[in-house]
Amino acid sequence: MQDGPSLGRASDTLLSAGEIGARVVEMGRQISADYDGQTLVAVVILRGAFVFASDLVRNLDPHLDVKMDFVRASSYGDRVVSSGVVELQGPDRTLVSGQHILIVEDVVDTGRTLGALSRQLNTLGVASLEVAALLSKDRAREVDVPVRYVGFHIPDVFVVGYGLDYGQSFRHLPDVRVLRT
Ligand code: XMP
Ligand code: MG
Repeated sequence: MQDGPSLGRASDTLLSAGEIGARVVEMGRQISADYDGQTLVAVVILRGAFVFASDLVRNLDPHLDVKMDFVRASSYGDRVVSSGVVELQGPDRTLVSGQHILIVEDVVDTGRTLGALSRQLNTLGVASLEVAALLSKDRAREVDVPVRYVGFHIPDVFVVGYGLDYGQSFRHLPDVRVLRT
């Protein structure tokens, strides 16, 4: 078997699976109340937000009309520092045009990813646009996009787990851990 990055590099737990689960339930309640009676299109930013999105949508009121789209965004490559250039694939125009959109993101860092996606969605024409992010890093944004639903504010450290990766590894961890550099 080939060796990947070892778990020893990512062993300081920042947010436990239990804490995350409880917060995602609260976020689901809040979003359900805010979108009561409306159709909501959740636009999930891949790959990192796939775990959060999957838990979040299952905590939305079952009576809500929820549709989903997926956007592939990449800026980091295999490094821990953003390359600054955000590449986007998607969203699907027919799914998002004229709709109430909730972008689902794993972590807001510089804000560039949200900035690029918001611009694109606004160009396609949407009824409303809000953001749900599991994590928000306490640091100055380069692009300021308001995030209506924040799971946790965290320090400016590189984190992995619960969908977040380092070199594509660690996404499967049930908690959020700080990567030791
Ligand atoms: P920006 O800078 O565009 O960053 O707000 C958002 C995207 O960058 C990735 N990112 C991270 N990924 N651990 C990760 O695994 C981190 O600590 C981290 N900080 C930013 C992430 O893909 C997010 O969508
Ligand atoms: Mg990533």
